[in-house]
Amino acid sequence: MVYQLVYVSRAVSKFNTRTLEQLMYVCRRNNLEFNITGLLVYCNGHFMQLLEGDKSFVTRVYDIIKSDVRHENVEIITERISRERLAERWSMGLYTPNKKSLRYSEMRYFELEDVETFRNEDPNLLWKLLYRFVKVMKEN
Ligand SMILES: Cc1cc2nc3c(=O)[nH]c(=O)nc-3n(C[C@H](O)[C@H](O)[C@H](O)COP(=O)(O)O)c2cc1C
Repeated sequence: MVYQLVYVSRAVSKFNTRTLEQLMYVCRRNNLEFNITGLLVYCNGHFMQLLEGDKSFVTRVYDIIKSDVRHENVEIITERISRERLAERWSMGLYTPNKKSLRYSEMRYFELEDVETFRNEDPNLLWKLLYRFVKVMKEN
């Protein structure tokens, strides 16, 4: 069984390709060591991150991430125990959609800027959204 946690946050100052790459380097190095996999979504100053693995490791890394001064308003939007990993091939995958809103379907959008849209959402839909990102990433 694997523990999965998803949070959203706001970057204190915007990241660019270079600063994101530097961040990913550290993420991958540390997460490999803790057998953590996941996905970081970055769009226009906003983050959404999936962390998955052993609960004690994920919690430890999340606490470190939460106190990172490069972002604020760090808030868990959903967590669960699952049979399998969602992002098993990435110690940390990076997904940078160029739209502020994350399209779930023709009808549904999630506004990364508005944490309320996540708080009030059916968690199943959030997981489906993440599955969709993974699918898009695997195709590219
Ligand atoms: C949005 C965001 C996501 C991050 N994700 C991770 C992560 O998945 N794993 C990780 O080890 N550090 C992550 N970090 C970095 C940590 O906050 C911290 O800087 C890092 O773990 C320190 O590693 P070091 O002690 O090896 O330098 C993230 C930081 C930010 C701002």
